[in-house]
Amino acid sequence: MSNAKLSLDGKEYEFPLVVGSENEAGVDISSFRKATEGAITLDYGYANTGSCESAITFINGEKGILRYRGYPIEEVAEGARFTEVCYLLIHGHLPTQSELDSFRDGLTYHSMLHEDMKKFFEGFPSSAHPMAILSAMVASLSAYYPDSESDEQLDLNIIRLLAKAKTIAAYAYKKRVGQPFIYPKNDLSYTQNFLHMMFAVPAEEYQVPEVLDHALNLLLILHADHEQNCSTSTVRMVGSSQANLFASISAGICALWGPLHGGANQKVIEMLERIQADGGDYEKYVAMAKDKSSDFRLMGFGHPVYKNYDPRARILKKASDRVLEELGVDDPLLDIAKNLERIALEDEFFVERKLYPNVDFYSGIIYRAMGIPTQMFTVMFALGRLPGWIAQWKEMREDPKMRINRPRQIYIGENERHFVPIEKRG
Ligand code: CMC
Repeated sequence: MSNAKLSLDGKEYEFPLVVGSENEAGVDISSFRKATEGAITLDYGYANTGSCESAITFINGEKGILRYRGYPIEEVAEGARFTEVCYLLIHGHLPTQSELDSFRDGLTYHSMLHEDMKKFFEGFPSSAHPMAILSAMVASLSAYYPDSESDEQLDLNIIRLLAKAKTIAAYAYKKRVGQPFIYPKNDLSYTQNFLHMMFAVPAEEYQVPEVLDHALNLLLILHADHEQNCSTSTVRMVGSSQANLFASISAGICALWGPLHGGANQKVIEMLERIQADGGDYEKYVAMAKDKSSDFRLMGFGHPVYKNYDPRARILKKASDRVLEELGVDDPLLDIAKNLERIALEDEFFVERKLYPNVDFYSGIIYRAMGIPTQMFTVMFALGRLPGWIAQWKEMREDPKMRINRPRQIYIGENERHFVPIEKRG
């Protein structure tokens, strides 16, 4: 492939081609504005714009491929523990046993919250959405663990964030249901510890069921990174101003909250409940999703990048049958989901637009079967995405080409006019 040539206003410009390790081609337009003396490119939603070069995650949306640091998601999901995936994404290689042991020790050792932070929870109303609590508490960590220039201190803050986020998430749930906070236990794994803090009460013994542990491990792994999506780009954007790790990740949590992004898993269950309450007539809802006069969309369908079956949804669809069977849960919402999927996959509207189920379509059903309430679903997504955000933030900070993110605009407002004092306005 040769360089790109652009003709603008009778003049020709040439821009270098950048080719990635999977032969993805990009035109480097870094010199565009300078060369053209003021012109810019316009790309709503940045769907055609690469914001960085990254070695973390590879996606081919047309073929439905997802790889973490080169490893296919199917293999990682089959064989890894979530903590190994955190290490892989953040440090770039699979850990040796001793690397993993010391990483896990750090995650265990740092999982308690500063006692003063527990008081913050008292200030929130019990109706507070747990995403509001999570984002506020993660930003607040910067008050306790200030930013540092040293690599060791930064690595420690990364460990603290990973370790404490699950404690914050579990406490946000406890606050909601009015139960006492349960402290983490050092003899439990990362996922077991979270489930213990969520579901144990001081009045009785709690043994983490293996089926919940395995399901959570899988769900967290499948959400761990997804290259330059809305929340990750937010983390990089905020981090590009050299804001600290906690502040940048807190911004990513807020971006994830929206229903077109991580908030979709909550919306999927609400949609399935609505269909169930309406007599289970899923065909009516498929018709509504196709109707251009209605703003109803099938939540959990479609993806900005995947124009094929989302490989994570494929894994979760299989897992949902297994987990529900092992837990002895018979959820009518699973049947509605499967029927919805079957009809949509055959329907010309969805086929033409390449709208397939995404990761959020089946994850909510599994979380529900695990006893995790709907409002916590996006928090679960955030816990899974944490290592991806951290890895991307760290890569951005270490990239010598990094500069503050500052897109341009095409101004379409009024031309210059003169200020009119209030008494003279008509
Ligand atoms: N139901 C019905 N129609 C849809 C849907 C849907 N879920 N998604 C897209 N379409 C239609 C849309 O109306 C448009 O039709 P037309 O070409 O006739 O105007 C066409 O498909 C393309 O839609 P788009 O909004 O331009 O597609 P996009 O790639 O910009 O948006 C999306 C992707 C995920 C925002 C969108 O598919 C959507 O709103 N899905 C539902 C929300 C959801 O499940 N979000 C989770 C995303 S995956 C997890 C994550 O990464 O956060």
